[in-house]
Parts: sequence; structure tokens; C-alpha cells
Amino acid sequence: MAEAAEVQAKYDELGTYIQSVKGKPGPLMPVMQKAQDVFGSLPFEVQEFISMQMDIPMVDVYGVATFYSQFALEPKGKHVVGVCMGTACYVRKAEGILNELADQLQAAPGMTTADGLFTLEATRCLGCCGLAPVIMIDDQVYGRLVPEDITDIINKYKS
Ligand code: FES
Repeated sequence: MAEAAEVQAKYDELGTYIQSVKGKPGPLMPVMQKAQDVFGSLPFEVQEFISMQMDIPMVDVYGVATFYSQFALEPKGKHVVGVCMGTACYVRKAEGILNELADQLQAAPGMTTADGLFTLEATRCLGCCGLAPVIMIDDQVYGRLVPEDITDIINKYKS
């Protein structure tokens, strides 16, 4: 019951925000950002709410939600594992690191593990190419990796 009230409060907050920007030029991006801040992600029901409240076709809302990488359609896991697929990392076999993580976590890039602990993502250059191949878990960077390093790293976040 408390959960339903909490969800309703989030919709109320978003609805109030939408009313405050409706009619101004280009409000969709800030509304989507606000929705993500309030809900943590943009699942179908939230996109539908935005579409109805703003009189914007669902296909446009969905288009923005999927085009911009800052928007997540599903809630992210407790830890976000970003595997750099930039050029320097790619040539140093980042794909092997990504495959190892996908195997161990049983999650494809862009997906969250069933227990909600990890979200796996393939990212652009993380800005530390000298350490290639690189992954980043939350704010922590791990570099010069080989697939054999992955088990120990992941285990730190499981406990
Ligand atoms: S290419 Fe991976 S950190 Fe730059």
C-alpha cells in the first residue's frame, strides 16, 4: 500500500512538472530527464504517462527514450559495469573482457542481472586509454585487464 502511494507521489511530481513546462518550446528532453530523476528509469508506463500528459505521440517519446544513451528503459542494477569499447581498448581485446563479463553475469550488454546487482554496458572511450583494456564499475576504473581478472573483480561486488 505504501508502495502504491510512493508511486502515485512520483507521478504527481512528474505531472506537476509537466504542467509547468507544457506549452514552452522543446520541453520533451527536460521532461524525460525529470522523469528519469524521479523514477530512476523510463519504463513503458512512465513513457505512456508523458505521452498522454503532453499530447505527444508515444512513438516520439519512445524515440527519444531509446535514442539518447542517458535514458534507461529499465532500472539499473546496484552496480553499473561499463566495458570500454573505444579504439584503444578494442584493439587490446576488450571484446574478450566483455564476453567474459556477459558469461559470468549471465547478462548481455544493456541488461541487468536477474538479482538486480549488476547492469552490463558497452561504453565509449572512458578517457584512460593508456590502461586499455579498461572497465569501470560505478566510479572505479580497472585497467590492463585479461579475462582471467574478471572473477576476482566481480566477487568484490557480490559480498
Ligand atoms: S579507448 Fe578505452 S579508455 Fe579510451
